[in-house]
Amino acid sequence: MAEGNEVVVHVLAASLKPVDKQIAAGSHYASPRNFPFICGLDGVGRLENGERVFFGGCRAPYGAMAQRTVVPKAFVFPIPANLSDETAAALPNPGVSAWLTLTFRAKLRPGENVLILGATGVTGQLAVKMAKLLGAGRVVAAGRNQQVLQSLLQTGADAIIQLDAPTEDIKASFAREAGKSGYQVVIDYLWGPPTEAFLSAITHTGFAAIGAETRLVQVGESAGSTITLPAAVLRSTALSILGTAGIPPKDVLFDALQKVISHGAEGDFHLSTQRVPLSEVESAWEHSGSGSRIVIVP
Ligand SMILES: NC(=O)c1ccc[n+]([C@@H]2O[C@H](COP(=O)([O-])OP(=O)(O)OC[C@H]3O[C@@H](n4cnc5c(N)ncnc54)[C@H](OP(=O)(O)O)[C@@H]3O)[C@@H](O)[C@H]2O)c1
Repeated sequence: MAEGNEVVVHVLAASLKPVDKQIAAGSHYASPRNFPFICGLDGVGRLENGERVFFGGCRAPYGAMAQRTVVPKAFVFPIPANLSDETAAALPNPGVSAWLTLTFRAKLRPGENVLILGATGVTGQLAVKMAKLLGAGRVVAAGRNQQVLQSLLQTGADAIIQLDAPTEDIKASFAREAGKSGYQVVIDYLWGPPTEAFLSAITHTGFAAIGAETRLVQVGESAGSTITLPAAVLRSTALSILGTAGIPPKDVLFDALQKVISHGAEGDFHLSTQRVPLSEVESAWEHSGSGSRIVIVP
């Protein structure tokens, strides 16, 4: 039953993202303490009046991976007719995250060089496209999946770095692609060994004049939840490490969502999706997606 400031949504599709898995596994800082709990942070559905909307913020214990859910009225957003249910369910979460990471956190300025660590994931692929759209200079995409890496050269990446290589080769690639002007912005979806290799690659071995600052934004942990950070990294480079810093103010969040949905409707942010019925969610759970997003349909 919806309360005064809520609406019931008849769910059409809900994406299965890393954060949904982390929340269900109890490994996310926002994991529930009370059970039962229904999975799924957000999705697409119809209101009682037939309007198709993207929704989020389900009232616990309800979630998006269900036939119906209940959400605050303030967290439903109309979806343009030319966005499919799958794209409308899959795009907002990684899209808004990538947009806000580049604009609100990294404060990317036109012409700055950007490195995306974990560029072959769904969010990383969007970050590559968005960095270019926002006027980045050189965009370097680092990941493991060779096929997706190659495709990024058509959608915004100026160079790619293969991460399933010996560590010394990876470090050499980071150093080579940094060129003379270096990376001003690094968006990090991996953490763990790839980030350690990157930090090692930018560490100076002698006294050197400080170059332009590198702002590294920590967003995900697909390759590891911890790193070893030698003190020399921070003393020999002009590096700032930032996080995504939780949920931004509502006006900033909703403005980003609006922009992502409009660009999505214009076809700027294509992403690959795979439909899976809710009855098969268990087998989908362990599937990595290989660069495409699984979308659960009730
Ligand atoms: N805080 C936020 O707002 C926010 C929003 C979106 C995402 N995230 C986080 O960002 C991370 C990525 O999200 P996503 O949506 O892009 O996930 P995704 O679509 O599931 O992709 C994960 C990617 O990580 C790659 N990967 C895993 N282990 C790796 C390793 N050891 N070395 C190199 N690549 C590795 C995978 O490569 P393969 O295909 O080769 O396996 C895949 O491309 C997750 O930790 C997620 O929770 C945070």
